[in-house]
Amino acid sequence: MERVRLGIVGLGRLGRHHAENIRFRIPRAELRAVCSVVKEEVDAAIRDLQPTYGTTDYHTLLQDKELDGIVIATNSMYHCEMICAAAEAGVNYIYSEKPLGMNREEIDRIQNTISRTGVKGFQIGFNRRFDRSLRAMKEQIDGGKIGKPIIIKFTNRDPRWKEEDLLRFSPTSGGLVFDMLTHDYDLARWFTGSDAEQIQGYGGVYAYEGLREKGDLDNCALLMRFRNGMMGFMETSRNSAYGYHVEIEVFGTEGALRMGVVPNRDRVISYTPGGIGQASVQWFFEYWEPTFQAELQHFVTCIQEGRQPEVGLLDGYKAVEWAIAAKEAVESGTIVPLNR
Ligand code: NAI
Repeated sequence: MERVRLGIVGLGRLGRHHAENIRFRIPRAELRAVCSVVKEEVDAAIRDLQPTYGTTDYHTLLQDKELDGIVIATNSMYHCEMICAAAEAGVNYIYSEKPLGMNREEIDRIQNTISRTGVKGFQIGFNRRFDRSLRAMKEQIDGGKIGKPIIIKFTNRDPRWKEEDLLRFSPTSGGLVFDMLTHDYDLARWFTGSDAEQIQGYGGVYAYEGLREKGDLDNCALLMRFRNGMMGFMETSRNSAYGYHVEIEVFGTEGALRMGVVPNRDRVISYTPGGIGQASVQWFFEYWEPTFQAELQHFVTCIQEGRQPEVGLLDGYKAVEWAIAAKEAVESGTIVPLNR
């Protein structure tokens, strides 16, 4: 295949970056079509990225037989509808942003539709699996460097949100426990090679009073046991005063591996009378930027080689399953078993 022709649906905060990556940074990819319900976003993408065409109706892309694959980067509540519509229309390769769906009915529907329609390749947007440090960590765990893994710990903190932005974002996101920890659920499965057996958790509103009436939280902590006997701990926040911070540690019988201990923006360290300091990362995109390009490069390579992407339907399904259990655990204050 000479060039892989892609269409993208969703040109918002993340979709626009995906479109730019396809257009400028992924060799052998062609940005054929762009779509958003916001006409100004379509017009801007046509002007800046010169796709073959742009539209406000995503069904136009589904009818386009020249497309080799579709990238879905719309708001989470539309993923199910769009993945299923693409599969039914005969699109062979589908990439969707996380989460796969918003509830069990949606993920079951997607699973059934994809297997019935014979989609050739499906990729879910777990971009962190393409991070160089995390890949090295996974290799070292699998290679036995820290012996038998005992516990995995995640810190996942957003920089302080503007309250009005958070209150607007919260109702469509699925909430803190469901949405914010999606990547951690997936990475925990990937690193441990195991599913969670049970989850318990606590959370609350500590920083944004307005979240109470939305039924959402701004901080939470989860404790879990895995089927392989490992333990897991995750904490997340929407109000990190010092910036964006993701840290992961795996501790085993022969040592520990850590990544992201200091969330530094660059490699400059200042030494002044005030002390020693480093600037911190301020937003997820700057921290994970290379991984967004790498995941779409992977999608394009899989289309070229006619194979399934590394991060697929089962991974998306499992992360939602964990998210549902974790949310129930925090809301009910009980220990929730998985795969009941
Ligand atoms: P956004 O609200 O900035 O953009 C959503 C886009 O979807 C807009 O262009 C909107 O016009 C378009 N859209 C909505 N309904 C549509 C329809 N029916 N037809 C065509 N276009 C439609 O949202 P954002 O922040 O870009 O998030 C998009 C997705 O990416 C979400 O599912 C989110 O969970 C995910 N995401 C993933 C991240 C990651 O780390 N992998 C980070 C941030 C977001």
